[in-house]
Amino acid sequence: MQNTKTILVLASQFKGVPLIEEFHKLGCRVLLLCAEKTRCEAWPTHAITEQFYMPKLNVFPDILHAVSHLARSYNIDRIIGVDDFDVEVAARLREHLRTPGMGDTTARYFRDKLAMRVLASDEGLAVPDFVHLLNDDKVNHYLSTVPGPWVLKPRSEAGAVGIKKIHTAQDLWRYSEELGDKRSYYLLERFLPGEVFHVDSIVFEGKVVFARASRYRVPPFSVWNEGGVFSTLSLPETDPLAQEMIEFNARLVHSMHLARGITHTEFIRADIDGKLYFLEMAARVGGAHLDLHVEACSGINLWREWAHLELAYLLGERYQCPEPRHDHSALLICLAREEHPDLSGFDAPEVVWRMKRAFHAGLVLNSQDPARIDELERVYRKRLQTEFLKA
Ligand SMILES: Nc1ncnc2c1ncn2[C@@H]1O[C@H](COP(=O)(O)OP(=O)(O)O)[C@@H](O)[C@H]1O
Ligand SMILES: [Mg+2]
Repeated sequence: MQNTKTILVLASQFKGVPLIEEFHKLGCRVLLLCAEKTRCEAWPTHAITEQFYMPKLNVFPDILHAVSHLARSYNIDRIIGVDDFDVEVAARLREHLRTPGMGDTTARYFRDKLAMRVLASDEGLAVPDFVHLLNDDKVNHYLSTVPGPWVLKPRSEAGAVGIKKIHTAQDLWRYSEELGDKRSYYLLERFLPGEVFHVDSIVFEGKVVFARASRYRVPPFSVWNEGGVFSTLSLPETDPLAQEMIEFNARLVHSMHLARGITHTEFIRADIDGKLYFLEMAARVGGAHLDLHVEACSGINLWREWAHLELAYLLGERYQCPEPRHDHSALLICLAREEHPDLSGFDAPEVVWRMKRAFHAGLVLNSQDPARIDELERVYRKRLQTEFLKA
């Protein structure tokens, strides 16, 4: 085919299959550079021109050299990183190869929780009070003026990795001591009890062209630390809180200068004042199968739309987001005691997906009735807890 576009997909995790398939369907050539550990995964080989493996994708300069070598024989038009770390690596590769797309400076806002907080608060957007764990005087001033408890967070991790709740200044300094030279990679932030929400959106030419808000049933921090079922429910689009969050998300997209792509943004509604605070924003499809949840309520597959909008940009065309459905959905996932839990007993007609992964149990529910989703999610969450959850 003439003028075939070549897309390089970076995947340090097994993710992004629909993106690869869609690029292929659209007539693109797909090169997949993935982590060695994903070798046995079900990559869609029919849609991949060449597949390469590296032990790790975030080792420099190895990755720059590997991709530069690849670029001797392929004219790479676009580089897409599917996982959190890949977003950063893709940006560095674009800078090195001078491939268009998000560069280092913009990517930094999405990968560095300190950078995104500074930017958001400079723009007048609400963030929990925070301080960089850098200057002793500033940290001491923060500890004496901002009420605890606080959370100590690594600037660039995901999945609540390394996040610690801190109750006293003494504890903070003890942890800080343990961190040694690593402390400058951390920030301290006020712990705001409240409900946690997410907005998943599609951006083209700096505008949010699709967004849907959802509420985690239990804050992810509690699920990762105390165990339990991870669960989220779409919010009705008429819900004023959903609308406020979608507006907040649009302002963040603007502030962070995201030109195009997919976003996953998280907010807390603090119990103390009922206000929404910005938690974090990623320039990629949300993890933990949130793509299936978004698709169940809206009919929009974020991975496939990502391929469409990137190609539209490459061809100088307008990207047209399909008309979303206005349904409701929930996603439930937990670690299972058994290797292959039998989910056939979750047989309500609203169940549209059952997870097939060893030692995991998961479901996606869809209905036109939000009350039905709310009710079924409660019943199924209890059942997952008692019948399958790993203690
Ligand atoms: N300031 C905070 N107050 C209360 N809970 C928080 C705060 N920051 C994070 N959390 C909890 O920790 C979880 C993970 O934090 P987040 O900043 O989203 O990092 P990650 O990249 O690990 O998801 C959140 O979903 C929330 O439950
Ligand atoms: Mg998060």
